[in-house]
Parts: sequence; structure tokens; C-alpha cells
Amino acid sequence: MSFSYKNHSLHVESVDIADLMDDYGSPLYVYSRSDVENNWREFDSAFGTHPHLVCYAVKANSNLAVLNVLAKIGAGFDIVSLGELERVLAAGGDASKCVFSGVAKTEYEIKRGLEAGIRCFNVESSSEMSRIGEVAQSLNMQAPVSVRVNPNVDAKTHPYISTGLKENKFGVDIDDAIELYQLAHNSKSLKVVGLDCHIGSQITDVSPFLDALDKVIELINKLKDNGIEIAHLDLGGGVGIKYDDEQTIDISAYINEIMNRTGNLEIILEPGRAVVGNAGVFITKVEFLKQNSDKSFAIIDGAMNDLLRPAFYNAYHQVLPVNENSNGVDASWDLVGPICETGDFLAKDRKLSLSQGDYLAIMSAGAYGFTMSSNYNSRPRVAEVMVDGVQHYLIRERETIKDLFKQEYIIND
Ligand code: LLP
Repeated sequence: MSFSYKNHSLHVESVDIADLMDDYGSPLYVYSRSDVENNWREFDSAFGTHPHLVCYAVKANSNLAVLNVLAKIGAGFDIVSLGELERVLAAGGDASKCVFSGVAKTEYEIKRGLEAGIRCFNVESSSEMSRIGEVAQSLNMQAPVSVRVNPNVDAKTHPYISTGLKENKFGVDIDDAIELYQLAHNSKSLKVVGLDCHIGSQITDVSPFLDALDKVIELINKLKDNGIEIAHLDLGGGVGIKYDDEQTIDISAYINEIMNRTGNLEIILEPGRAVVGNAGVFITKVEFLKQNSDKSFAIIDGAMNDLLRPAFYNAYHQVLPVNENSNGVDASWDLVGPICETGDFLAKDRKLSLSQGDYLAIMSAGAYGFTMSSNYNSRPRVAEVMVDGVQHYLIRERETIKDLFKQEYIIND
């Protein structure tokens, strides 16, 4: 973990966040390059010599610099749209290490994926399978496919990020999968390469993963009995991180369990949050303190449009003062943004000593932070910076007010 206090000021690797705020302004996303790399390597090295590919889930943080540092250390990528594919390619990623997930790939996305030479389409329905077959046939190509099965296990996570239950829109019912595999197996334009499953996100207990694994192993054996061999098993992402003091999954123990149960089969994993979540922070400034008889509000310059997770999932993010010694007004503060919504908060009831102008670090904001940000209330999206040792780099410019409406037209009537 590269976030620590030195001389009472919060640093990222060897860079003082207070200095970054002078250079780049507020609010700001800041990432640690070494944390991103080390987190990905933790997955990669746990496999040792076992055949595997760790495909970083681009949706968690799709900044080109993040993708580029991961591409340089050998990462594969899990993508869910043409935009993500093009980002990976622009960042120097290797298409042959990309798996393409998502419930509704368009014809154009499939065509582009085939032309780029992606590793595999994770197919989520029989109609999608037909579409992929048709596009491949029209290009005189063979599309590599896996079926994403829904193992019907409860990931015991927030309902919005649980995907492996029958009631979710994702994947193919595990009992219907054989039929779909047979269809693909018999088609000249499709090539069965794998089996895929992803049960949800921010999972902190390994048992739902292992339950899902047992179910897909059963399916792999049934497929074998039907003459269908798969070359890889993709177990998706979902490994949870520590946002507070919760226990989470021991990655190497989880990977050992997988290897113990799957023989020599190549394993693909698609971690997103576990690679970038704790590698990034969102820094915001206290604009005003507003106290009434019931409540203490710190009004900050960051808002739900910049970091949606608290408003959307009631998610908890730790809050640390950038200056550890700041001594202002002691209270239990709600951190609220300038947006005209009661749901516009980043944290609630935090015991902090605050003054106007203080900087606060919203921790564990590297995943699903910037990528879920918007321009709501016509707020330009913030800048992103990556720290590498003593160096820091602007990796996305702060949007300008002009950027907000440069694609809009007034009708002349
Ligand atoms: N693979 C697939 C097919 C996925 O749908 C996802 C995430 C991942 C991999 C990566 O999962 P991870 O390792 O990051 O848990 N916005 C939510 C999280 C949504 C996750 C969607 N799918 C949040 O902020 O908590």
C-alpha cells in the first residue's frame, strides 16, 4: 500500500498529496503506479507456472495510462464494449489477450473484435451466439467463443453488483448451457474455446466462488462426455477489497483452490476492483462548514458526479485528512457535495477535525470512481494523476467548461 503519512502529510509513494493539489488543483484522482502493478502481480504470480491469464476488467478504471502500465507487465484485459477495446489497443494492449464480455454485443463490436483478433467472446445468450456466428461467417472467419454460465449462487454482495443468481440478467442458465455449446460446436463459424462465469463484485468470502467453481467443473465434465473439450476456464472477477476493516479473500489461497480443482486447465481471471481499487484516492477540498443543532455538514468541492459509489450503493469509503495535524472543528461530519440532490454525499458521520480549505482523501477510489463519473449539474470531470516513485504525471486533463457543450447545437429558428 503506497498511501502513508510522512511529516504528517499524506503521501502517494514518495509524493506529497498537498504538493499535487498545488500543481493540479482540486478535486483530483490520484493513483499509485506501483500499487496497480503489485496488485495485478499478486494474481499473476499466485499461479506460478500453471497456465493462466489475468485479464484486468477495464470498466474498473479505463484510463490509458492505467491500461498501459498493465499491458507493459503482461496483463490481458476483460472488455465489455468497443470503446474499451479501442482504449486497450490505444494503450498498447494485446488483442489476443482480450476477452469480450457483456450481454449485448452489437454487430459492429463483434466485427471489430474479430478483426482485431481478440482471444474470446464470452457469450451470454443463444441469440448473441447466433449473431456472433453470422458476423464471423460474413467475414469468412471463425469466432472463438465461451458460454457465460449463470451458476445460480448467491455472492452475498450488494444486490446491484450480484450477477450469478437466476434472477439476474447475466449469462445462460447452467442447465441450458450444453445445448448452446452443441450449437457452437456444430457451427463452422464458431470455435468453442472456453467456459466463463462471473458471479458478482466486491465478494469478501471465498465460498460462493468455490460453489460456482464446483458447478462449472461438473458442466465441463458433462461437455467432455458430449465430445466438447474446452481450452480455458474463465472464473470472472469479483474479489473484494478492504474499504474499512472488513476481512476479504486471500488471493493466493483462492487461486490455490482453483488450481487444486482444475488440473492443468488454463485459468482466466478478470479482476478489476482488486487491481485498482486501493491504488487510487479521490482528493477533495472543504469549501464550507455548516453546523445546525442536529447535523454537522462539511461541504466539499467533490460530489456524487465525481464519485458515485456512496450515493448509488451507499458504499463506505474511508476518509483521511491530507494534513494529519489539521486542527479545526471537532465533530461527526457528513461530507456533502455542491450538487442539488440530498443523495449527494461522499461519507456520513465521520469524526474529523476540519477547517475550511482542508484537503480530504477519499480512500479506495481507484475502481469505479472516475469511470462512473458524469457531468451532472454541468460539472467538468476532474483531472487524474499517476504517481511513480518521486515522479507524478497528469494522465487526464481536467475538463473545461467549454468541453461540456462542445458537442451541442442551438437550432437556428
Ligand atoms: N468481469 C465481468 C464480466 C464483470 O461484469 C465485472 C464487473 C468484472 C469482471 C470485474 O469485477 P471486479 O473484480 O471489479 O469486482 N460499479 C460497481 C461494480 C460493478 C461491477 C460490474 N462488473 C461498484 O462500484 O461497486
